[in-house]
Amino acid sequence: MTDLLLLPGDGIGPEVTAQVRRIAEALAPDLAIAERLFGGCSYDAHGEPLTQAVLAEAKAAKAVLMGAVGGPKWAGAPRDKRPEAGLLALRAGMEVFANLRPALCFQPLADASSLKRELVEGLDFMIVRELTGGIYFGAPRFIEDLPGGGRRAVDTQVYTTPEIERVARVAFQLARGRRNLVHSAEKSNVMDSGLLWREVVTDLHAREFSDVRLEHILADNAAMQMVKNPKQFDVLVTDNLFGDILSDEAAQLTGSLGMLPSAALGAPGKPGLYEPIHGSAPDIAGQGIANPLAAILSFEMALRWSLDRADLADRLFAAVGRALDRGARTTDLGGALSTAQMGDAVLAQL
Ligand code: NAD
Ligand code: IPM
Ligand code: MN
Repeated sequence: MTDLLLLPGDGIGPEVTAQVRRIAEALAPDLAIAERLFGGCSYDAHGEPLTQAVLAEAKAAKAVLMGAVGGPKWAGAPRDKRPEAGLLALRAGMEVFANLRPALCFQPLADASSLKRELVEGLDFMIVRELTGGIYFGAPRFIEDLPGGGRRAVDTQVYTTPEIERVARVAFQLARGRRNLVHSAEKSNVMDSGLLWREVVTDLHAREFSDVRLEHILADNAAMQMVKNPKQFDVLVTDNLFGDILSDEAAQLTGSLGMLPSAALGAPGKPGLYEPIHGSAPDIAGQGIANPLAAILSFEMALRWSLDRADLADRLFAAVGRALDRGARTTDLGGALSTAQMGDAVLAQL
């Protein structure tokens, strides 16, 4: 049985997951690790970005850790065969509806952010992004030719009560173990799905979580507040699309997109899907300079949330902190270390 299924993917995906593998083998030599093709490389080999066999292995593993998928090479592939379509199919197939994206600024990186030090020093909040619904999955979706020329494209945002409730429940439960504050972001001022989102979160709060402070916030204001005063947030729950955008913004607060890990969780006992939130970074792929810390910290989350090794997660988290304390920096953080040298720096602290 596989404990950890690695899906390195495309672009910098294999570069950063190689460092995860070194660290996993050093820290937890008993873990049974397997590695499979996924994304553009799987499309090239099998004509599918996610084969049924790999999906079955993902569902049978204890945890799945992917690098990143996609890139210009597959821009012309049919929509349902694109690497990103494989990623959506993996998330849906694993039923991982709650995506935890922690925006945590390591102390020595407070100067690496493009925001002023005092705004990000000590920053620690959690974005809970709904991951298997909303406009990413809604039907109908199509592009059609119009009779008079031109075309028409349709995407559909759909949410049901249970979909909103289950992700909001995760957010409230997380807040109880943190600073007890949840912001729920939507566009209830213009979208029916936003209106339902607000109602369902309000009801759930009243029924089960009235001990937690709840603030509703419009998503555009949330984007602004995040750069004005990010430390006001503790847990921020939002839909799939807003969560995608707000988490890239949050990553920059922590110093770099290369710092932000994620854990996608489903029902208790089911495997989690762990992924850095960044993409395949075609602009730097192949150069060996990508920051592997978002991937390494995703493994840290896997140890904690799926592999039942919180002790090892603590050790890994501390090792990353010490490596940064000692000045380890890839180029995105203003340093000169290669991907492998950053891996070395973390290994040295383990
Ligand atoms: P991206 O996240 O790949 O890159 C955005 C910018 O951040 C680039 O300048 C890149 O060099 C930099 N960056 C990203 N990760 C970095 C790291 N670890 N270290 C240093 N710098 C890093 O976003 P994009 O360019 O918009 O997308 C490229 C491709 O990746 C697209 O095909 C997109 O669909 C895909 N994508 C995949 C995932 C995923 O697999 N989970 C996530 C996001 C984007
Ligand atoms: C992410 C990515 C993906 C998303 C893409 C590649 C499908 O941007 O994980 O943040 O939009 O969810
Ligand atoms: Mn994204």
